[in-house]
Amino acid sequence: MIDLSNSFLQKIEIDKLSQRQISFYIKRDDLIHPEVSGNKWRKLKYNIEVCLSGKKEGVITFGGAYSNHLLATASACKMVGLKSIGVVRGDELTKDSNHTLRRCSELGMELKFISREEYRMIPDKSYLADLAHEFPNMHLVPEGGANYYGMIGCQEIVKEIEVDFNAVFVAQGTTTTSCGLLLGLKEEQELLAIPVLKGFDSVNEMKAIFRYSGIEEEWLSNAFSRLTILKDFHFNGYAKYTDELLSFIRDFYLKYNLKLDPVYTGKAMYGMIKELENEKWNGKSVVFIHTGGLQGVESIEKKVGVNLF
Ligand SMILES: Cc1ncc(COP(=O)(O)O)c(C=O)c1O
Repeated sequence: MIDLSNSFLQKIEIDKLSQRQISFYIKRDDLIHPEVSGNKWRKLKYNIEVCLSGKKEGVITFGGAYSNHLLATASACKMVGLKSIGVVRGDELTKDSNHTLRRCSELGMELKFISREEYRMIPDKSYLADLAHEFPNMHLVPEGGANYYGMIGCQEIVKEIEVDFNAVFVAQGTTTTSCGLLLGLKEEQELLAIPVLKGFDSVNEMKAIFRYSGIEEEWLSNAFSRLTILKDFHFNGYAKYTDELLSFIRDFYLKYNLKLDPVYTGKAMYGMIKELENEKWNGKSVVFIHTGGLQGVESIEKKVGVNLF
């Protein structure tokens, strides 16, 4: 169904880093699948398995108008013959509002549009119970695939990296991917996470995901000591971008033939390159996890009137 061998480990020679004997790798999860790309498949894999083994009819999940996660869910469910329902933030929207929603609908996802106020009620137990009543026998996956199964799927990324490395760098939204990576790392390896939201409390968000895993406190505090949050690369907040960020993405593509997106991976790569200026990285081996997100780039290009690639 999904061929994980598409995600290879690419070595990139960046002169300024090679001169300091820094080995720079990119784990190309963006190549896993055109629509279920990057961390999306990692987060959906075990949620889909739960549906298949638990005889659930399909997945109900949540997202905004341009959600990579909604599209990935629609596509993955279609592949395995499961139903999918997407609860979308914004009751002014329709299935024809943009490419992401149109494609979700084409893939058979039933879309339920709700107001922003109602969307804020989603974490409430009583709201979710009503939803379960409206759509019975569906497996509920939180926004962005942020649950235990999502985290376990992301842990597998680390196991596929076949070189010795000192640290991984990753973009952070719900923190599910970074939690999974942290679970998979060895004692001597570090995780550097780059939140794309402004004023985001990464550690508490991560603790909330770990809370349901039953992992011992001692293991957790040891793991958190190997975590660094690079919090200054959100470029004013979620889905905000500056000319500097867009030029960085364009230059990176021209130099290394690698596409990044302005919402997640562009910010993370920018933060990583800045962090690696620190001499402490001399002689180290580092891996950037390319979490995908490229399906939304076209609409951003249209909005800002520039072509990135
Ligand atoms: C392309 C991309 N990269 C990174 C992330 C952040 O991952 P997480 O939400 O697991 O922290 C997301 C959001 O899911 C994403 O769409």
